[in-house]
Amino acid sequence: MPEPAPGASQDRHADANAQLGTVGVSRARLDSATSQRASRSWWDADADAYHLTHGEFLGVDSDAGEFVWCPEGLHEGDMHLLGDVEGKAILEVGCGSAPCSRWLASQGARPVGLDLSMGMLARGLAAMERTGNRVSLVQAGAEYLPFANESFDIACSAFGAVPFVADSALLMREVARVLRPGGRWVFAVNHPMRWIFPDDPGEAGLIATISYFDRSPYVEVDAQGTPTYVEHHRTLGDRVREIVAAGLVLEDVVEPDWPEWLDREWGQWSPLRGALFPGTAIFVTAKPL
Ligand SMILES: C[S@@+](CC[C@H](N)C(=O)[O-])C[C@H]1O[C@@H](n2cnc3c(N)ncnc32)[C@H](O)[C@@H]1O
Repeated sequence: MPEPAPGASQDRHADANAQLGTVGVSRARLDSATSQRASRSWWDADADAYHLTHGEFLGVDSDAGEFVWCPEGLHEGDMHLLGDVEGKAILEVGCGSAPCSRWLASQGARPVGLDLSMGMLARGLAAMERTGNRVSLVQAGAEYLPFANESFDIACSAFGAVPFVADSALLMREVARVLRPGGRWVFAVNHPMRWIFPDDPGEAGLIATISYFDRSPYVEVDAQGTPTYVEHHRTLGDRVREIVAAGLVLEDVVEPDWPEWLDREWGQWSPLRGALFPGTAIFVTAKPL
């Protein structure tokens, strides 16, 4: 869920909300096209603030990029969830400014980063310009991937498009389509149980207020009721069913601990909450041979 909602104090999203005229929150069902329109304008408007808050943690401007899976700081260099990446064609879904793709390139992979938002991609282009570590970037929505069948060995996403699309089952099928047999698809999202709590790093964020079973998305709207931000919820069972229905095999669900060294607090993330329940779920899947 976004952090924090409009009107909340410590609003790091003030600029984006002002640009988009966000005035409130609704829980209306949204189709794919409307969700995509809202996400594109949101991430364009919020790209600068996102990078001010998270750019350093994500290694956006480091020479070789970095592959940080989640707010708990898990690094692909330690986790090896993607397996051996050298020489592999890798699709990163919802790459933002593409620090993960750039890190993969530094490890000898052949990544392509896909994202809906030119604002986010432009931040990556600027970093590539500076560092000379370049990867291919594609501006497109994740529900219809503009790639041929079986064109990638691996696909990955670190909090990329998956929580933002209306039809994540379609996204799973699309990723399965573009993967070669034997390929891996590993994606990190908010842990489904986080949905039930308000986005607050403190005590208020420990009290369940929303039904886990309510799949209606969290939507912020402008004065005309046009969505300016959207996030869709899937339960743990929904995610498993969507993976299996796409013909993929689920190998693991990684639920990272909150690390002792991490005292950062922002939005819905904090040591207080991290000590009690997971914030991230990383689904590790494979396409059968
Ligand atoms: C939380 S950011 C994560 C970006 C990057 N993975 C990172 O770790 O910084 C989510 C990204 O997903 C992208 N996104 C949202 N909806 C999308 C969609 N339908 N198709 C493709 N990308 C999308 C946004 O533009 C944004 O760059």
